[in-house]
Amino acid sequence: MAPPSTEHTPLIASVRVGAPHRRPRYSHNVTRRFCTIACSSTLAFFILATIISVAFYPLEHFPHHRHRHDHGWSTLSWDPRKVTYDQLRRIILDVPSSEKAEEWSRYYTAGPHLAGKNLSQAVWTKEKWEEFGVSSQIVAYDVYINYPVDHRLALIEKQEQEDKASTWRVSYEASLTEDIIEDDPTSSLDDRIPTFHGYSASGNVTAPVVYVNYGTFQDFEDLLKANVSLGGKIAIARYGGIFRGLKVKRAQELGMVGVILYSDPGDDGDITEEKGVAPYPEGPARQPTSVQRGSTQFLSIAPGDPTTPGYPSKPGAPRQPVDGAIPSIPSIPISYVDALPILKALNGHGPAAGDLNQYWTRNIGLRYKGVHYNIGPTPDEVVVNLLNQQEYVTTPLWNVIGIINGTIPNDVLIVGNHRDAWIAGGAGDPNSGSAVLNEVIRSFGEALRLGWKPLRTIVFASWDGEEYGLVGSTEWVEEYLPWLNEANVAYLNVDVGVKGPHFSASASPLLDNIIHSAARSVLSPNQTVPGQTVFDVWDKNIRTMGSGSDFTAFQDFAGIPSLDVGFGSGAPDDAVYHYHSNYDSFYWMENFGDPGFIYHKAMSQVMGLLTAQLADLPIISFKAGHYAESLEKYVSKVEDKLDALISPKAMDVDSMSEEAISELRGSHRETSKVVDANAYNPRREARILKEDLSRIYKSLGHLKAEGEQLDREAEILEGRIREGIPWWNLPARWFLVRDIRSVNQRYKYLDRKFLYADGLDGRPWFKHIVFAPGLWTGYAGAVFPGLVESIDVEDWENARRWVGIIETKILFSASDLAVRK
Ligand SMILES: *[C@@H]1O[C@H](CO)[C@@H](O)[C@H](O)[C@H]1NC(C)=O
Ligand SMILES: *[C@@H]1O[C@H](CO)[C@@H](O)[C@H](O)[C@H]1NC(C)=O
Ligand SMILES: *[C@@H]1O[C@H](CO)[C@@H](O)[C@H](O)[C@H]1NC(C)=O
Ligand SMILES: *[C@@H]1O[C@H](CO)[C@@H](O)[C@H](O)[C@H]1NC(C)=O
Ligand SMILES: *[C@@H]1O[C@H](CO)[C@@H](O)[C@H](O)[C@H]1NC(C)=O
Repeated sequence: MAPPSTEHTPLIASVRVGAPHRRPRYSHNVTRRFCTIACSSTLAFFILATIISVAFYPLEHFPHHRHRHDHGWSTLSWDPRKVTYDQLRRIILDVPSSEKAEEWSRYYTAGPHLAGKNLSQAVWTKEKWEEFGVSSQIVAYDVYINYPVDHRLALIEKQEQEDKASTWRVSYEASLTEDIIEDDPTSSLDDRIPTFHGYSASGNVTAPVVYVNYGTFQDFEDLLKANVSLGGKIAIARYGGIFRGLKVKRAQELGMVGVILYSDPGDDGDITEEKGVAPYPEGPARQPTSVQRGSTQFLSIAPGDPTTPGYPSKPGAPRQPVDGAIPSIPSIPISYVDALPILKALNGHGPAAGDLNQYWTRNIGLRYKGVHYNIGPTPDEVVVNLLNQQEYVTTPLWNVIGIINGTIPNDVLIVGNHRDAWIAGGAGDPNSGSAVLNEVIRSFGEALRLGWKPLRTIVFASWDGEEYGLVGSTEWVEEYLPWLNEANVAYLNVDVGVKGPHFSASASPLLDNIIHSAARSVLSPNQTVPGQTVFDVWDKNIRTMGSGSDFTAFQDFAGIPSLDVGFGSGAPDDAVYHYHSNYDSFYWMENFGDPGFIYHKAMSQVMGLLTAQLADLPIISFKAGHYAESLEKYVSKVEDKLDALISPKAMDVDSMSEEAISELRGSHRETSKVVDANAYNPRREARILKEDLSRIYKSLGHLKAEGEQLDREAEILEGRIREGIPWWNLPARWFLVRDIRSVNQRYKYLDRKFLYADGLDGRPWFKHIVFAPGLWTGYAGAVFPGLVESIDVEDWENARRWVGIIETKILFSASDLAVRK
């Protein structure tokens, strides 16, 4: 700031001429004189600064800047941007290469990189980014996590001796390892990571076993209704449907003493050995010994370091007890090969799966191996010994943070991927995303070299500790919350960047529109139809934000609109993805997931364009009207739920999507509870609440009107920018810049308006009233979670409270949109 200059003194002196002479001088006259000088020079400074900032506000790089040339005044216009937006887009499409992506993938998958165990990968990543031209640093946190020490799983049976005495005999000792495959070097590394669960409890339990299907809340409800004895038993559950930690959570709540999780090939669709498909490495079916590691944290309660909920795990930070955040009973992940003897031991014991209901006979994949899918429990003479020994430590982990400063102060876009993996490989999860992120940064580095500077600051993040419970990103968001709250426009996430050929996205509806435009601009690697884009071969389904990756703290805790993209698998012809297994390796990626790394390149282009669009256009590319429309759809889902209570219909499982089934089975409805039919009538209550929803619809009407109005304002402004205003036409520029700022302010803070300070019931860390992981699904996005959970537990009073909260928040955000900033 310029120092007060003497030039101003005469002006101020002349003002003082009119002052009565004979009055005694006020003692504070000197102060006043000083203040006047200071004020007027400050004013002069601000006028000058405004003129400069308005004249040189970087409007001139809008995509359709050719219009500017049409107007013939471009020669008069000073363009501060050496690289226009169109040129930037060209760079982003031209720079990423399959060869480079493959090189990065090869590096990241060369050795183990479990959370907090591989500093050299963090350093390498930082150095690469700096080499690309982006200044970077390592940000460390001290977090509480576990590393595996020992494990055992054995089937033990009591045998009568001839002399009537009995002895216990180990009839099966599970291998708990994944086979070494000659072709796949990752599978034979000496330092490969054992099979275990993140945040699992140590324990050594021996008990009969019960088959609990997917271990969803409703699966356990079915078991309670069928009077299957659960207390003191060990559960064997198949993976799938819901987040694994919640399977353990429910088992624990019902008094079970341990959990075994296995991968049933029935969930692999038609790509199974049973249907004649060769398993990996000969073919695309599941390698029979593959094991899904993973975290058993109670993710839907709070992610991050469980000892520091809501604040960063800096060295010396106070630590909370972990009860209620992670399991207290041991659990262990196994392959289906290891599961077979245990499942067979259940044959003939307890009800058959078919005796319960249709959800128990879906995707049964081991009948051909002699498994009858009986529920059990096994008799007391047939027990399982489950030993899980974990070492818990508080240890540093390392995020890498790279920054490109923008020209607009306090507008920040964040682009992230996690680096840590459960296995030495991780070619899909997460290092396809790491390779993509590197290619994106390399592209922006190229633009920087040509003199480009973004409008908004871009922060790139390589998170550590995602796998244990989104730890690195959550601690970082918790540390920088005040700054992010003020400055963060959006968070873009790529976790598994590529595991197959099908583009897939989940996002805050504010961002749907930029996903469409980026997908339209990138050629699909699938050129069956020449010229087709990623958009052309995409199902156009954008899922709601739940949890399961690093966007969670941004979206659900800080109210920052987020998206998550990647090329996925799961369609009938896709190779089975060996999730969290040794076979998620470079060799698998090279031969099955993405031969030629062509989808890696396409993903880098998509991610780069998403980043460019948000970072480098004068107007933030959100669509507020569409947000309101999506919220209307979400309310109608709540309505459907009430309708199902009012007039229950039989569900046709065959016609339901896997997602819908998971949501239904993961619902928190305690159907086994005996309710006194006279005390209250749930149908009547549901009907009353349904009427109440009209209040939410009405408030959404306002939000939609204001949102669409804002979108129109934005469009008009885009038109004005396209037409262009020469730098010397200061008044016109001043109005334009003022209007742009006003529109951007309203877009930027819209999502923040949906934060509720007290958080959701029983999980106050989750602050967003629209988005949260389902309480009992974990990954899937529940919409209006406070309301939906109250309906599930038939707490109508609380449901009405949530209707009120939701209505107020929506009305508040609508009226905020209406106020020009
Ligand atoms: C860290 O990662 C690198 C690259 O993947 C690997 O070569 C190295 O073995 C890993 N180091 C440790 C200590 O696991
Ligand atoms: C685990 O429990 C079994 C049976 O109670 C016992 O034989 C074994 O020694 C225990 N193992 C460990 C490591 O404590
Ligand atoms: C479960 O037990 C209760 C009470 O002990 C009994 O009323 C009910 O019929 C039993 N249900 C089944 C499915 O066996
Ligand atoms: C970006 O801006 C910040 C704050 O003005 C500054 O501290 C930092 O050094 C800048 N970084 C780069 C790479 O220019
Ligand atoms: C490739 O493109 C064709 C033509 O659009 C489409 O039918 C096919 O499903 C696509 N395949 C994949 C794997 O995307």
